[in-house]
Amino acid sequence: MTRDNLDGRTRDDLLRAGLEEDGVRLVRYADRWPLPGTRAERRAVRGVMGWLGLSALLGVACIVLYLVWPFRYPAAGYELYTPLLGLTGGGCVLLLAVAIIRYSKNFLPEEQAVQERHDDPSGEFDRTTTSALVTDTVRRGGMPRRRMVLGMAGVGVGIPVVGAVIAAVGGLIKDPWRQPPADTVWHSGWYSEDGQAVFLRQDVGDPHKVVLVRPEDMEAGSLLTVYPFREADRADKDRLSAVFNRGDTPAVLIRLRAGQQVTPKPGQENDNVGEYYAFSKLCTHLGCPVGLFEQQTDRLLCPCHQSQFDILQSATPIFGPAARPLPQLPIAVDDNGFFVAKGDFRQPVGPEFWEMGWR
Ligand code: FES
Repeated sequence: MTRDNLDGRTRDDLLRAGLEEDGVRLVRYADRWPLPGTRAERRAVRGVMGWLGLSALLGVACIVLYLVWPFRYPAAGYELYTPLLGLTGGGCVLLLAVAIIRYSKNFLPEEQAVQERHDDPSGEFDRTTTSALVTDTVRRGGMPRRRMVLGMAGVGVGIPVVGAVIAAVGGLIKDPWRQPPADTVWHSGWYSEDGQAVFLRQDVGDPHKVVLVRPEDMEAGSLLTVYPFREADRADKDRLSAVFNRGDTPAVLIRLRAGQQVTPKPGQENDNVGEYYAFSKLCTHLGCPVGLFEQQTDRLLCPCHQSQFDILQSATPIFGPAARPLPQLPIAVDDNGFFVAKGDFRQPVGPEFWEMGWR
């Protein structure tokens, strides 16, 4: 057979011609199951289907766990959420790989060949004959007549793909408003869903001890880290300590020195109490705690990548990679002389995941 004489050749002729053209000598090339339908072949088919089925089951389990398993602290079993996803998701992919290996070993033709190496690019003749080799391998592997295996393979491959898509858009599938509003990504721990006063509370090392903040507790030019507190939580130890575990709650309460003027952002002219201002403690770059207050320059410094926020410009970043001001917490003093939050932060805290439309 020559390069110009390909028409009418059988697939076997073509693949062997291609191999010879490449300097490949077939020493052995035999079907795994020359007699179709034997018990041994059926057993091999069931083996592959079993692995694919187990893989599919784990894939389904992974998706179900992702959607229904409690993942929020302190829900019972929340600590198993990630391990269970890893076990089922990883197991799904692992068993899929086992099924592919079993299929290759049991159904692809047994081949032993010796090939000379060459560096020239492939021409049309090579591409045509290689195509014949590939299609012949599929035919001899029996895929066309093993539709159930093909279908199961589709399920086995499809489920991880579907799982990956669900994981990517899962945040949109899970309705954030299904939980109490204060527990969603749309509000921080300072949000009061029922109109309860939210006090500013100090962290004194004991998560169950409540120490509220009054203006006279602070020296001029000082800073205090504060967390939200509701009277309804006073007797609930879990809720008292949970506030320290929420990433969006820490705020810094700053008392400026006498005579200092802050340029407020539009709409935030009344969010302070005299020289007292409160801002989110989460850096708007990558979320590190911004707790270093340089009293002489009225700047808050982030220790991670050295962003600096000018308090006199409503915590606008003036140095470093942070691009957005620290969100301000509107505060007031109640009738008993304690600081309270007048509402939630007006912008998302920490590294922003959407743009709220102001700078
Ligand atoms: S996290 Fe603050 S500057 Fe990077």
